[in-house]
Amino acid sequence: MTTGHRTAPTVHTAVVGLQWGDEGKGKIVDLLTSEHDVIVRYNGGANAGHTVQVGTERYALHLIPSGILYGDKTCVIGNGVVVDPEKLLQEIDTLRARGIRVGTNLRISDRAHVVMPYHKEQDAALEEYLTSKTAHDQGNLSIGTTRRGIGPAYADKVRRSMAIRVGDLLDPEYLRSRLHVICKLRTAEIEALGVKTAPLDPEALATRYAEFGERLRPHVDDTVYALHDSIRAGRRILFEGANASLLDIDHGTFPYVTSSNCSTLGIPAGTGVPGAAIGRVLGIMKAYSTRVGAGPFPTELDNELGHRIRERGREYGTTTGRPRRCGWLDLVAVRYSAMVCGATGIACTLFDVLSGFDEIKLCVRYRLPDGTETDRFIPDAHRLEGVTPIYETMPGWSDEIRDAADRDSLPATARKYLSRIEEVTGIPIEVVSLGPERTQTLVDGRRAIALATA
Ligand code: GDP
Ligand code: IMO
Ligand code: MG
Repeated sequence: MTTGHRTAPTVHTAVVGLQWGDEGKGKIVDLLTSEHDVIVRYNGGANAGHTVQVGTERYALHLIPSGILYGDKTCVIGNGVVVDPEKLLQEIDTLRARGIRVGTNLRISDRAHVVMPYHKEQDAALEEYLTSKTAHDQGNLSIGTTRRGIGPAYADKVRRSMAIRVGDLLDPEYLRSRLHVICKLRTAEIEALGVKTAPLDPEALATRYAEFGERLRPHVDDTVYALHDSIRAGRRILFEGANASLLDIDHGTFPYVTSSNCSTLGIPAGTGVPGAAIGRVLGIMKAYSTRVGAGPFPTELDNELGHRIRERGREYGTTTGRPRRCGWLDLVAVRYSAMVCGATGIACTLFDVLSGFDEIKLCVRYRLPDGTETDRFIPDAHRLEGVTPIYETMPGWSDEIRDAADRDSLPATARKYLSRIEEVTGIPIEVVSLGPERTQTLVDGRRAIALATA
């Protein structure tokens, strides 16, 4: 047993979505980036769309961590991400064209798996098949994916023999030999879904993807060692979750989920950094709920109220432009995802969107088909379909709150709404977001950045 002086360990932070995505993770990561040195994506791929607004400039990040906008931070795409090199290079070019530095500050794991064009073809073909009449006889099982090839790429990772990793792109002969085998089998798999496709050309693919590899070479790294070196050097890490906990492959509303562990449980596997290194988990929660794509959504408002939320919140997908389904805040779901993620605090975002409603509802329990009640979430689509939300109804507020200086100056009913969320979840709301811009944020009850400096 040591009795000597021990310095407090550096606190590393995770930002994670507590609902079905688009909670405003990009905005909060941008806000926290100033206090961190390294920003790391650990899961998902170009299915994510993280918006950051700086003044009147809006940036949509898909594969690159949102911290890239600062220019002086190291941004890491961890081994748990599936990388579409074509999309990544486009994203790099777009950012550079807007004056953002993307050089050696962007590190990409050599072990991250590659999304190939045939993954996107397979993703679309399977979705079309499941939407078609033939499949409907068995019930419509289409997931409403982003068609970015995410599921097929992760499936190849798990299948092992059909997978390509970023490191493979740097070895053209090895890449070519793998693609010859993969393409033969892959054409047959796509055709089995009823899609007539030209046979995949392994030579053309190998040449093209080796070129992508050359362009990415300066960024490719053993990011596991790089991250541990950073930790030893006392640098602070910020883990940026993509997608969200209720879309987690193991803990979400299966099968209407994405194919990665988007909750904080994905961090150790997706980066090589043990979970014990994370001291702070900020769960991002919209003040209401949204969902894109198919799957159960107990508090959905498929009516005029839902439409009003969609228009006020500009709820259209950052990645696909699809209108998002909207509904009241589901605290049964949020309490569950906060538990799975180990959330130490909550950021309540898009709070300004709720101004102007006569009354606002909070779902605190579910009624099950047998008439009994539960406060437990059901991470299974088929069983979750059967629940009815039980609401607490609260009066709304009419004033716009975007310019509120602190939490105390919010309308009393708005303050009560926040307090009730804290009571039900047992987790403090550390951040309240009142608009898309950096300055429109209350941290620990006060404006994070003075309006005057905007
Ligand atoms: P992410 O995927 O979790 O990063 O979220 P998205 O970027 O896909 O969607 C969030 C949207 O809400 C973006 O358009 C943001 O600019 C916007 N946004 C973020 N925070 C707020 C807020 O507090 N109020 C309003 N009105 N918009 C916000
Ligand atoms: P961000 O990071 C919202 C949803 C899709 C679909 C399901 C599976 O911006 O919050 P996939 O293409 O991953 O196989 O689709 O998951 N989905 C998201 N919804 N925000 C996201 O990311 C999402 N990423 C995946 O709409 O229902
Ligand atoms: Mg998004």
